[in-house]
Amino acid sequence: MAQKLLLLPGDGIGVEIMKEVEKLIGWMNSQGLTDFTLERGLVGGCAYDAHGEAISEDDMKKALAADAVIFGAVGGPKWDKVPYDKRPEAGLLRLRKDLGLFANLRPAICYPALADASSLKRELVEGLDILIVRELTGGVYFGEPKEITDLGNGQKRAVDTQVYETYEIERIVRVACDLARTRKHKVHSADKKNVMKSGVLWDEVAQRVAKDYPDLEFQHILADNAAMQLVRNPKQFDVMVTDNLFGDILSDAAAMLTGSLGMLPSASLGAPDTATGKRKALYEPVHGSAPDIAGKGIANPIAMIASFAMALRYSFNLVGLADQVEKAIADVLADGLRTGDIAQGGKSVGTEEMGASILKKLQA
Ligand code: IPM
Ligand code: MG
Repeated sequence: MAQKLLLLPGDGIGVEIMKEVEKLIGWMNSQGLTDFTLERGLVGGCAYDAHGEAISEDDMKKALAADAVIFGAVGGPKWDKVPYDKRPEAGLLRLRKDLGLFANLRPAICYPALADASSLKRELVEGLDILIVRELTGGVYFGEPKEITDLGNGQKRAVDTQVYETYEIERIVRVACDLARTRKHKVHSADKKNVMKSGVLWDEVAQRVAKDYPDLEFQHILADNAAMQLVRNPKQFDVMVTDNLFGDILSDAAAMLTGSLGMLPSASLGAPDTATGKRKALYEPVHGSAPDIAGKGIANPIAMIASFAMALRYSFNLVGLADQVEKAIADVLADGLRTGDIAQGGKSVGTEEMGASILKKLQA
């Protein structure tokens, strides 16, 4: 039975890099390796320009009906002045919230060919393979109240609310522990229990969940220390589970260890449906819309293509095909192919050539 993908390229380089994924899908369908039907929609600034919203109700419906959403990137200076609730990022946050995508998987893998592109020394990052599991539908991103009030005396007061309930912590820690079982059996849980009540509860629940996984090495770490350890000795980590805000920050740091933000994919997953076992899912590169290079055909499509590989793996159980895509990426890098972001001053190729080369490896 055909499976439905909703493609949301978004803004900036999202449009260019999504085209490379479409070519991959076209080839896989033509070979009978997959049976995807594609729908397309608008999200972010382009949706605001077309509909006055960061995502239209119609596209939200398509997202809810899709087997997986493949998302590019949103935002750009053009939309700096649009109302806060219609800003490009609001489209992404609504997708996460309304699809219930509470589990955000952000692998940071250092390809051997790129170890020298990292800002850290090769020996610190070579072979690096970290998985950050970020809670994605709670915490300070969505907590209420969230407001700025005018105090009337020339002062204003801004409030964001960090809030977590037991079940939210429990389910994300379980995702992290289950994944650790397929990896090096090590989990760090990062919070700020030394200053935050939400951190105290986070750790209490995490420690309790960890008791169900006696085969894992489970360790608490303060989030600030986690940031420091990530740049001091990143290879000590296997899986790191943390809340929405710390996960946002720590995953950017982890990503950059690998040489370029342009390399890293992510998966955002919902809870399995009790009847069908299927989970809602959205796949997106960790990098943004890069308005400075948009439209020039020089963006790195690897994170986008690797995000699609995660979709093959996590939404469609096409593990062999996902492995092949990831291997094709590693192979083109080993051949010396580089887009500008990872070229380190050397020769670089454009978006299309990188995409075509990865496809060629797959076909071989
Ligand atoms: C990310 C991004 C988003 C976030 C922005 C675009 C809202 O930084 O996915 O990491 O803060 O979650
Ligand atoms: Mg971020």
